[in-house]
Amino acid sequence: MMSKKINSLQIIKSAKRMQSISLLIKKSGRRTIAFVPTMGALHEGHLALIKKAKKVGKIVVVSIFVNPRQFSEKEDLDNYPSSIKDDIKKLRILKIDYLFLPQINEIYNPRFQTKVIVEEFQKHLCGISRKNHFDGVTTIVLKLFNIIMPDVAIFGKKDLQQFIIIKTMVRELNINVKLICHKTIREKDGLAMSSRNNHLNPKEKQIAAGIYKGLKLGKNIFMTSKNITSKKIVKLIHSFYRDLGIKKIEYIEIMNPDDMAYSIIPSRKDFIAVSVKIGGTRLIDNVEF
Ligand code: PAF
Repeated sequence: MMSKKINSLQIIKSAKRMQSISLLIKKSGRRTIAFVPTMGALHEGHLALIKKAKKVGKIVVVSIFVNPRQFSEKEDLDNYPSSIKDDIKKLRILKIDYLFLPQINEIYNPRFQTKVIVEEFQKHLCGISRKNHFDGVTTIVLKLFNIIMPDVAIFGKKDLQQFIIIKTMVRELNINVKLICHKTIREKDGLAMSSRNNHLNPKEKQIAAGIYKGLKLGKNIFMTSKNITSKKIVKLIHSFYRDLGIKKIEYIEIMNPDDMAYSIIPSRKDFIAVSVKIGGTRLIDNVEF
């Protein structure tokens, strides 16, 4: 009995087949499809999104596809962690319904030429150093939405800029899907869960735990000081990171999540976002005020 349930996961590799399964589910009119897109190397952060999907949907679809179009030439796509056997085991334990696991040529034919671009919001934060990254994300996410036709899709708040961009695409292109932004899942020491953490050695991991501490420090200063400027908060976080031994700080910014405008005097609606490099690993995180 137990093993039957554990084995109920269906792995679908063809986009056409996935789409017809989704169409059938939709036609029945009774079952909500909740979707979690991933690039695999599933960790507790992903598993929290999937558990949320199980709460809000009757049918849960997870996709694993390492999307080459969101990596730039400089970034090493080949080094992206992969653990497909382990991932499938985790999905079976969570008893989800479908894993969409396409090969590259199932998604992009060699002459693929379409791009979805959210013009303004992709220019900030990570978009500055990761050229074309968000175009790659929006293009694959729209494609996955068209294949899976979810009623609800769940993304993690650690990638807040990604979420804001996808939300904008969904609104502006009238895509019929509800989006959920799930809180960031952290290690005990505060480090935001990320597949990239696999690249950190123990010493680097210890330093990386300070990223969230710096953000909390910034939030605390905001909460306890009147009319403090963003510049001042950013400066304090900056020197906190330097003292920790973080040498490469790509950005520390305070922004409004609705229009991605940089705040001079921060308000309760804003968030602080950071990107740093520890060793060769680029890590991002954010907190809301
Ligand atoms: O957040 C991710 O893992 C990826 O950017 C996503 C949304 C699966 C698109 O490839």
